Amino acid sequence: QTDIPAVRDAVTAFPVGAAITGAEIVGDHGLLLQRHFSSVTPGNALKWDATEPSENTFSYAQADPLIAFAKSNGLAIRGHTLVWHNQTPAWVFTGADGQPMTATAEDKALLLARLENHIRNVAGHYGASIAVWDVVNEVIDENQSDGLRRSTWFTVAGLDYIRTAFRVAREVLPDAKLFINDYNTNVPAKRDKLYALVAQLRSEGVPIDGVGHQMHINVSWPTIAESEAMIQKFIPLGVEQQITEMDVSIYTSSGENFPTPPADRLLQQAYVYRDTFALFRKYAAEITSVTLWGLADDNTWLDTFPVTRKDAPLLFDTRLQAKSAYWGVVDPS
Ligand code: XIL
Repeated sequence: QTDIPAVRDAVTAFPVGAAITGAEIVGDHGLLLQRHFSSVTPGNALKWDATEPSENTFSYAQADPLIAFAKSNGLAIRGHTLVWHNQTPAWVFTGADGQPMTATAEDKALLLARLENHIRNVAGHYGASIAVWDVVNEVIDENQSDGLRRSTWFTVAGLDYIRTAFRVAREVLPDAKLFINDYNTNVPAKRDKLYALVAQLRSEGVPIDGVGHQMHINVSWPTIAESEAMIQKFIPLGVEQQITEMDVSIYTSSGENFPTPPADRLLQQAYVYRDTFALFRKYAAEITSVTLWGLADDNTWLDTFPVTRKDAPLLFDTRLQAKSAYWGVVDPS
């Protein structure tokens, strides 16, 4: 379909991106990506298990082709992610004694040394070609009174893993925008814990430039008012905000399972995309980029999360044809 407007021409307030895997830079997927989007995020290729599968052995075999494609097509790149509790090899959290790390001074020093080495290598490998990084991902747990997720990162190193990650990333990449990224930031309890952490760390001088809202939502949740409150919450901090992983599931509970997407859900989805993008445009001074977590419905992580069932959360269908959701974004009238 080359007779329809490009998303990136219709939405000029900010770059619009898509998360991609290696298969999506070739053939019709590559053409769709080039035509409609102005930014990309490697969906898995820059995670720790891909880039440093064993200690101090770095591999860019997955990410390099994606980055080269982005550069040759003039696409911006969001680096995702330097520190996360998932998709991180077990060796990272194994002490010198071969045992799982615990809250000892020795384990903490080793863990932070591994973190620093990882960031120096991975961020250093791409240098200025990746100008925005999700430095830490999903560190908030609103069910903890201090709001901090009890990952091994935290139980071994406390908040110092976050401080170290941002400090080292800034040293390696003085001009990059450094983000803290999380999901469900539209939920007041979670949003407020994230706000408190960012406010505290910035007051200490930790170089956090931006807050990333993943925005994995569905056709009936959240309301636009809740999403607006999410954006407004962070304005006083003076940070950039980006929408980093948006998709709109057709499911409203984990018990549902449709063999094909129902027409009424696809229509609801179009309205959600229309109204949510209208909100982002209203806050174009704060929202500096919007990324969808996938290119088309033939490849979405929601097909296996939270349960295995076919989902259809993106702008293009399994045959790469524009959906009503696409028109919600492109022609919001
Ligand atoms: C997902 C990928 O899309 C999947 O391919 C992978 O199996 C699991 O991770 N939040 C994030 C992303 O920050 O890194 C996740 O990506 C989706 C949820």
